[in-house]
Order: sequence, then structure tokens, then C-alpha cells
Amino acid sequence: MAKLYVNPKVKKGHINPELQGHFSEHLGRCIYEGIYVGENSPIPNVNGMRTDVVEALKEIHVPVLRWPGGCFADEYHWKDGVGPKEKRKKMINTHWGGVVEDNSFGTHEFMELCRQLGCKTYINGNLGSGTVQEMSEWVEYMTFNGVSPMADLRKENGHEEPWTVDYFGVGNENWGCGGNMRPEYYGDLYRRYQTYLRNYDEKKPINKIACGANGDDYHWTDKVLETTFDHGNGFMNGMSLHYYTLPNDDWSHKGSALDFDEKSWYRTLKKTLKMEELIRRHGAIMDQYDPEKKIGMVIDEWGTWYDVEPGTNPGFLYQQNTMRDALVAGINLNLFNKNCDRVKMANIAQMVNVLQAVILTEGQKMLKTPTWYVFHMYQHHQDAELVESSVETKCVGLEEEYQVPNLTESVSLGRDGKLHVTMTNLSLTEEAPIQAVFAQTDIKSVKGTVLTGKMHDHNTFEAPGQVCSAAFDGFTVSGSQVDFTLPACSVLHLEVEV
Ligand code: AHR
Repeated sequence: MAKLYVNPKVKKGHINPELQGHFSEHLGRCIYEGIYVGENSPIPNVNGMRTDVVEALKEIHVPVLRWPGGCFADEYHWKDGVGPKEKRKKMINTHWGGVVEDNSFGTHEFMELCRQLGCKTYINGNLGSGTVQEMSEWVEYMTFNGVSPMADLRKENGHEEPWTVDYFGVGNENWGCGGNMRPEYYGDLYRRYQTYLRNYDEKKPINKIACGANGDDYHWTDKVLETTFDHGNGFMNGMSLHYYTLPNDDWSHKGSALDFDEKSWYRTLKKTLKMEELIRRHGAIMDQYDPEKKIGMVIDEWGTWYDVEPGTNPGFLYQQNTMRDALVAGINLNLFNKNCDRVKMANIAQMVNVLQAVILTEGQKMLKTPTWYVFHMYQHHQDAELVESSVETKCVGLEEEYQVPNLTESVSLGRDGKLHVTMTNLSLTEEAPIQAVFAQTDIKSVKGTVLTGKMHDHNTFEAPGQVCSAAFDGFTVSGSQVDFTLPACSVLHLEVEV
């Protein structure tokens, strides 16, 4: 029996709701079809946003949404996406499938979507191919409340009041699709562009996010910080990190979302666990410049990336989502919680119909993926206090190189005054009997929810309820102890009243 130790008296940090953030790019069917169908669509919508999708997203309390990209961000010219729709410029989305982008979803539509979701806004600006003036004017357009050319234009376009921009990304992947820059060069550009991102409302300062590293490119983190850091406080509130989980490292044969074997299961989970090392090592570099941890690590693209679903546009990055994705989500969200002293935001890529989506759509139909259920179970951690916990683990796996710990966990004290335990069992074959000990704590009651199944289980438009979470009551409580057995291949949430 594995022991899970929880010490609710030892608080380890605040879990920003933003750790459960999302990302939506003008890519494939994420924005168009997936979220935005337009006011005249036969699909029920409010101001063009699909009602079914918005309702499903509200159930998981999306805390923040990043937009418009991704690689798309550094080719996006925001003025093309405001004003009367019939007059908006059309362009080719060169990165993603070569389709026509008609700019019918722009700044006003994004802000409307965030209003409907009740979430914070994270805009990613264009540093790669846009000017300082363009970026500066976008912020003025969105947030200035006085008389100015951009504020006047916003009013002309039908929005009197300024919006709140909570986060602003100064370029995306500028080491790659965002301009193929060296870190020193990006660092200098960052200093320049961010200078003109004004805080027009001092009560709502914009958090500026610098472009961070690709996976384990520690050189990038070091050099960007070295180039920018002497610039004083407030110039940078966060630095991004992108890390995708691919079953195989070969980008032309990443592996299938549905057709995989047990070896691939453990390989994928091993790859996703690398996130722990990335947070630790990038965090150690950040500590050298910023020991007080004022700059948040913003993991604004993470998730699985498989070969696209056969028969779909390769540029659309559409993939199915199984119990393997649920485990990837559970493992990463636990890791983000455990590192909440440095990690201040994380955005799964992407929200609908692209990569590790929480929702898939097909015409009128919509389904919630196994990943959606994990976000649903973990939402109790949002805005909670991480408490000390640890679990005894053993290695599982089929290949020496790809052994993984059988269990991961994180525990928080929620805003509801309850303890929230989330655990993952990575083993495909072995259930895990657990004895959970809550130090100096009398337990009044426990409620559980579990998501479990076979590794390939997934939801389809024909059978959308194949995988869904269920009540879990297989535990016994005595004093400060809870005994239970975690099924193989599962994600669990326990709500513990103390
Ligand atoms: O999420 C898909 C793409 O992955 C994004 O556009 C880019 O930032 C990353 O390489």
C-alpha cells in the first residue's frame, strides 16, 4: 500500500487560476467553426459564439484565454480585424493550411468571447513582422479611455468603453516562426517594444510576457534575461515556455492519437514528465536574475501533438483525444500546482479542435474530450493554496528508458475551505492501493470523482459519452486517514472536508 502524506498546515504557495488557462489560435477549426460561427449560423449562438461550446467551457471555468496565436500572431495585423465585417481584409493563413482568413473574428469578437466565458484576456502581439507603432496602437485601441486616434477608432467601431487586457505577449516563438531571432536580438527588441505598451489604467496594469524558450533551450532563457534584466521592475511580468508532448521525437512521424501500443503509452507519459525538469532548470536560471520570483513562468503552449487525424487537412492539426491525453493533462496540472511559486500561468494548446483540445466539434455536434473531464475535476485548485504533500511511488513501464513513476499528486486548500487531492495512476495494468494520511487533521467527510478506462478510450460524435467522469466512493475514512484504491489508468479527485 502506497502512503500519501498531506500536511494541510504547511502552505506552499498560491495556485493562480491561470494555471488552467487555454490557448486559441487562428488555426484549423479552432476559432472558425469551433468557437465562432457568426450571427447568421443555424448553429445556436450568442453574438456569433457557439452556445454549446461556450456552455461547456463555462463548466470548467476557463480562467484566461490566449489569442490570436501562436505562429499566426506574428503575421497578424490587428487593424485588418476591426470595423465593418464586409470591409475587413482577407488574407491567406500561410502557417496553417493556406486557407482564407476573412478576419471576421477580430479584437471585438475575442473580447466578446472572453466576456461570455468570464475569463481574463491574454493578447499575443506581433513582434516578428509588425511595427512598434502597430503593437503600441493595439494596446491604445483596447485600453485607452480618453481622446486619442485609437480610442476614437474603437468607439467608431461600436465599443465605447475600453476593455481590460490582463496579459500581453510581446511576440511568439521569436526563436522560430516569430522571426528566427537570436536571444540577444530578441531581448533588445523586447526592451524596445515593451516600452510603448502603456498602462493607460494604472489600476489595471497589463502583464507583459516575453517570449521564452522552446523546450530545453536554456541558452535562450539565460540570454533573454541577461539582455533585458537591467531594465528595472515592471518591464517584464512573465516569460513563456513552450513544450509539446510527442510520442516520437521525429516531427514527421510523431505517432497516432488513436492507434498506439502500451510502449507508446509509457513513452508519451515519460515525455510529458519532462515538464518537471524544464520547470526546474528554466526556473533555476530565472532564479539567478529574479530570486524573488517576480517574473512568472508562463507555459503558454503545452499538450500532446500527434500526427493529424487521417483524411484531415495537415495544416489544421486536428487530433482525437484518449485516456492517454487525460493522463497527460492530470500529470501536467499536478506539476504546475507543485511549482506554483514560479509557474503563474499555463495554457493548453489548444481549446477547440486543435491538438490536445478539451472540445471537438463537427457541424452541429460537439463533444467533451477526456482532457475536458480532467480540467473539470481539477478546477477546484483554481485560486487555492497548495499544501505540502508527497506520495510513495514505484517505477512502471515496458522499456528501461521509459520507466515512469506510477503515481503523481497535488493537494490544495480550496476557496471552499475543503482539501482537494488530485492524483493520476500512470500504470496501465496495476491499481494502486493508497493510504492517505492528513497530518493533525480530523476528516469529516470525503467525496470522490474518477476518470478511468482503457488506454484507447475516447469520445466520438456517435458515442460522445464513452469516457466521462463518475462518482468515486471506494474509500474508508478513519480519523485522519483515508484508504482507497486508485484504478489503473485513472485520474482522481477527492474533496476532503476537515
Ligand atoms: O500550437 C500550434 C503551434 O505550435 C503554435 O502556433 C506555435 O506557437 C507552436 O509552434
